[in-house]
Amino acid sequence: MSDAVADPSRRTWIAITCGAGAVGGVAVAVPFVSTFTPSERAKAAGAPVQVDISAVRPGEKMTVEWRGKPVWIVRRTPEQLESLKQTEAQVADPTSERKAYPTPDYAKNQYRSIKPEVFIGVGICSHLGCSPSDKFATGAQPSLPDDWAGGFLCPCHGSTFDMAGRVFKNKPAPDNLEVPRHMYLSDTLLLIGEDSKG
Ligand code: FES
Repeated sequence: MSDAVADPSRRTWIAITCGAGAVGGVAVAVPFVSTFTPSERAKAAGAPVQVDISAVRPGEKMTVEWRGKPVWIVRRTPEQLESLKQTEAQVADPTSERKAYPTPDYAKNQYRSIKPEVFIGVGICSHLGCSPSDKFATGAQPSLPDDWAGGFLCPCHGSTFDMAGRVFKNKPAPDNLEVPRHMYLSDTLLLIGEDSKG
């Protein structure tokens, strides 16, 4: 496991996601920040992160760390993309107009992403900062509606998000999951934390 686990300042979200059983099989790309001097560490902590997403298969999620936050990369299946049509009328801000976590223009679409199949979002609930759990299985299950189409459930106060990180209506979370600025350096290489605008 990466040094992220050994860094107490980063334990919170890792502990929460581990507790929810969400980290299994997930690669974590983290710079070895703890070996740096304070100024190097500060620079590395804010630096963009390059991620090779070639190993993420349809229906899988990878988590990387950027600025001390978990960033999810989900390769959505055709069915998961289709589910966004169903949730369109059920989410609070379908076109990502809210400004608390401004969505980059290239993700202001139904998929909230550059490539429809690849969702990139910060895995921190916009309510009080818990890390939501994957709930990719569809249908009735505890804490979810019978017509659940797949998405994420925040265990803290029950906010739910669809497969594009859009929060459902009438939930404590006031906003969609944040989409960080990002860009593709190649088909499979992502840069998180920076886009063509800097
Ligand atoms: S922190 Fe997610 S619902 Fe409260």
